[in-house]
Amino acid sequence: PRIAVIVVAAGSGTRLGADLPKAFVGIDEHSMLRHALTRVLEGPSAQIVVVAPSGHEGDAITDVLAAAGDRRELVSVVTGGSTRQASVAAGLDALWGDVEIVLVHDAARALAPAPVFERVIEAIESGSDGAIPVLPVIDTIKRVDGGRIVAAVDRSELSAAQTPQAFRRDVLVAAYATAAEDFTDDAALVAAAGHTVAVVDGDALSFKITTPADLDRARSLVARHPL
Ligand code: CTP
Ligand code: MG
Repeated sequence: PRIAVIVVAAGSGTRLGADLPKAFVGIDEHSMLRHALTRVLEGPSAQIVVVAPSGHEGDAITDVLAAAGDRRELVSVVTGGSTRQASVAAGLDALWGDVEIVLVHDAARALAPAPVFERVIEAIESGSDGAIPVLPVIDTIKRVDGGRIVAAVDRSELSAAQTPQAFRRDVLVAAYATAAEDFTDDAALVAAAGHTVAVVDGDALSFKITTPADLDRARSLVARHPL
């Protein structure tokens, strides 16, 4: 396929505090990774690379087989690194064939729905080097220093970034090859390399499951809308 999706699932989930890596924690009887893959597979046809924690590649393959069925030949599993950026780099190294557009997606955003995948791809097809889904910031934001407010921040200028984030493959590979520091997301890394990153509408369902409260929210959403 012309499109690839790298699903990064190699984190340990320190803030969730479960007894196994976060991607394998169950939302219902299915893991976060299984939910994320099911929604990726509902989107446009793509090569999929799952980046798994070292020692849990077999668990990732189990989820891939369950989610992908007879499309499993489109999916590969590789071992991640100690940072998210290292895990994405491992996924990039595993791409094969004539992929032109690469999406990077957090397995922890397990409920991200298929239309956001279509929106970021469409932005790249329309000529952007990169495109990410964003939501407006709801809270009133303050800049704080030394225990007091030093500036009001105009929240209309702010957006909360989500995944899947899409890039031209050549742009993303080149930006990773020159990245000198650790960036918080792929959009920041690509922007630091001098490229313009467009924004598209995100989705509230694409929230990242980070804390036990986030997992509770995902569980109640999935109970109402099972796979
Ligand atoms: N990730 C990864 N490799 C890492 C770290 C993170 O593939 N070395 C992935 C996670 O699996 C997750 C996504 O990046 O899907 C977003 O990271 P985050 O939500 O921070 O997950 P964890 O790093 O696992 O959680 P924590 O920071 O609480 O330990
Ligand atoms: Mg983390």
